[in-house]
Amino acid sequence: MTRILAVANQKGGVGKTTTCVNLAASLAATQRRVLLVDMDPQGNATMGCGINKMEVENSTCDVLLGDATAADTIVSAPEGGFAVLPGNEDLTLAEVKLLQEILYDFVLIDCPPSINMLTINALTAADGVLIPMQCEYYALEGLSSLLNTIEQVRDSVNPGLEMYGILRTMFDPRINLSNEVSMQLIEHFDRKVFRTVVPRNIRLAEAPSFGRPVLLHDRSSRGAIAYLALAGEVLRREDARMAKAV
Ligand SMILES: Nc1ncnc2c1ncn2[C@@H]1O[C@H](COP(=O)(O)OP(=O)(O)O)[C@@H](O)[C@H]1O
Ligand SMILES: [Mg+2]
Repeated sequence: MTRILAVANQKGGVGKTTTCVNLAASLAATQRRVLLVDMDPQGNATMGCGINKMEVENSTCDVLLGDATAADTIVSAPEGGFAVLPGNEDLTLAEVKLLQEILYDFVLIDCPPSINMLTINALTAADGVLIPMQCEYYALEGLSSLLNTIEQVRDSVNPGLEMYGILRTMFDPRINLSNEVSMQLIEHFDRKVFRTVVPRNIRLAEAPSFGRPVLLHDRSSRGAIAYLALAGEVLRREDARMAKAV
């Protein structure tokens, strides 16, 4: 069964795209079939996977508009071992339409940095929302409006939508405030906070300029290890969920 996770946070620069690309590669490294859907007109995830967003024949936009099938649009990440539904600025034209994609174990949707129709689309199609967060003061403020949006989508069009988890990104344990915010998150959201913490790591920041996930850039880096750990956590959660379902 396909699990669809929207990676969302209306704040820009919190690590959504980095998480999508690297979680996709890490899950693919464990032989899972993964599709990364780039739902951001900036097309950063597409480029970060080594795909030129200007050169793709079709984009996520065409699929959303019904002008192309997903099968005709999906390209494979040259090095990542996963598939990509590429995004570019055409996406600003897209309207509501459900994305239906099967045949993958995981679909990760990289959302734009705002709560707009594209994000609502993603939340409508998703089973869960993975929220990357930097442990800063204002981060918590933004979180409540995202949680409200999730609730609204759940109450209207997608009753199965859950808040899948909060991922602490670009974490620097030397900063007191980061540790404080981190504690508050755990107090409040308990096991919804992933145990994996993604450290600030230069390899993660430079990998996109080579058009590849960090796992293929420097697999012994702290960034690569963190995203492998995150994939492990996601897989264990899924195993637990399946065990509960039978
Ligand atoms: N853990 C990290 N360590 C260092 N740099 C990071 C890390 N995560 C993301 N970055 C960098 O921070 C910037 C914003 O990350 P990005 O994933 O594009 O955020 P978003 O998609 O939420 O806007 C990018 O330049 C990215 O390479
Ligand atoms: Mg992004």
